Amino acid sequence: MKKVKAILIGAGLRGSEAYAEYALNYPSEFEIVAVAEPDDTRRTSFSEKHGIPDEYRFEDYKEVLQREKFADCVLVCTQDRMHFEPVMMALERGYHVLCEKPMAADKDEMVQMSKAAERYGRVLSICHVLRYSPFFIKLKKMVETGSIGRVMTIQHIENIGYWHFAHSFVRGNWRNEKSACPIILAKCCHDMDILLWLTGSTCKRLQSFGGLGHFTEENAPEDAPLYCMDGCTHRDECPYYAPKFYLEHPKAKEDKLIYAVSEDIMPKPVMAALEQGPYGRCVYHCDNTVSDNQIVNMEFINGIKVSFTMTAFTEKCSREINLMGTKGQIKGNMDLGIIEYHDFVSGDEEIIRIHTPEGGHSGSDTLMMKDFVHLIANDGAGRSSTDASISLESHLLALAAEESRISGKVIEFQTYTGDYK
Ligand SMILES: NC(=O)c1ccc[n+]([C@@H]2O[C@H](COP(=O)([O-])OP(=O)(O)OC[C@H]3O[C@@H](n4cnc5c(N)ncnc54)[C@H](O)[C@@H]3O)[C@@H](O)[C@H]2O)c1
Repeated sequence: MKKVKAILIGAGLRGSEAYAEYALNYPSEFEIVAVAEPDDTRRTSFSEKHGIPDEYRFEDYKEVLQREKFADCVLVCTQDRMHFEPVMMALERGYHVLCEKPMAADKDEMVQMSKAAERYGRVLSICHVLRYSPFFIKLKKMVETGSIGRVMTIQHIENIGYWHFAHSFVRGNWRNEKSACPIILAKCCHDMDILLWLTGSTCKRLQSFGGLGHFTEENAPEDAPLYCMDGCTHRDECPYYAPKFYLEHPKAKEDKLIYAVSEDIMPKPVMAALEQGPYGRCVYHCDNTVSDNQIVNMEFINGIKVSFTMTAFTEKCSREINLMGTKGQIKGNMDLGIIEYHDFVSGDEEIIRIHTPEGGHSGSDTLMMKDFVHLIANDGAGRSSTDASISLESHLLALAAEESRISGKVIEFQTYTGDYK
């Protein structure tokens, strides 16, 4: 297999840890030959780790993408509203591209990106990593082989976890639609994609309800200060009291939330960063706008009815699904890697335990990279299951759900996508 050479745009959490690690683990298959990253510390430590010489370290994606093509592909791992321009520039330069989800926050930009990939004959893959998870692959096979007969209804829940929600969607990077995008797009485009894939169909119509119901000023306890450490008297009964949250909650270290607060994770520097930093804010006094609860009801063209719930108010961060068919039922929990199968014909019941490989998103990050690298080694011959032309639909579905949530109207999805497909 030909060794694939890549340029990384954005050496943040996803770029440097979820994807570039593939180069360190499979050096004969993949190499990062250049990086664009404005943060000096991140750029330097990333470059040193990957042996990138000074002349291939850039501060901005424009600098590297203005040069003549010198690699096979570009990984675009900047924040949500910074995908469009580097993707378009990279495609125009003749690179294959891997782009983080969401493709873009804007409907027209998404469509332009997908069309540009087609026009230039380049791969544009979107990081819908869940399609590579052994859990969802197993469910897809079970549905396709008719193990539950005809699928009639699906219930799917994205349990975000109160701690994850407070960190990312109240205090953190994805809290405000102006700087990020609506949560149904930012987080749940994965779920829309999985539902489109499992139903093997497209949506006919949908409705959505939800909003920001809890993390608001009106719900602030009396006299709660702007920062937890400004003498908050509710510290003992508040699950979000920052020092306790970041220094004691097991997920703070396990899911690396604490590194967003401070590079040095010893108590003293963490407390100092929380005093006046974004992660030390009272969760009821932030500039967050994204919904903390949302449901989407969908009717698919092939008759399947789906109800989807996204909620902040759960203990665990996990995805659960219940597929109800004419001859059986499947209940699954992705994060536990457990599928419970009931066969209505034989009356048999089976518990299937899915082997979860190492790595993020239950091993899916690495599996997706493997697929992408092999595709590019063949100069893009073949189509990935997360090609932009496929992923576009889940993004549009998320945007349609948001439109319904805001307008209170039922959306005819084919009319909504109309001109765009
Ligand atoms: N596929 C998934 O399941 C998944 C999971 C989490 C996050 N994401 C998405 O991944 C993306 C990145 O998230 P993250 O957590 O790594 O964010 P991050 O903020 O850690 O990383 C983004 C990086 O881009 C850099 N950057 C900013 N301007 C730049 C420029 N002009 N040129 C080059 N680099 C620039 C930033 O300095 C930063 O280091 C987001 O869109 C996010 O929604 C996807």
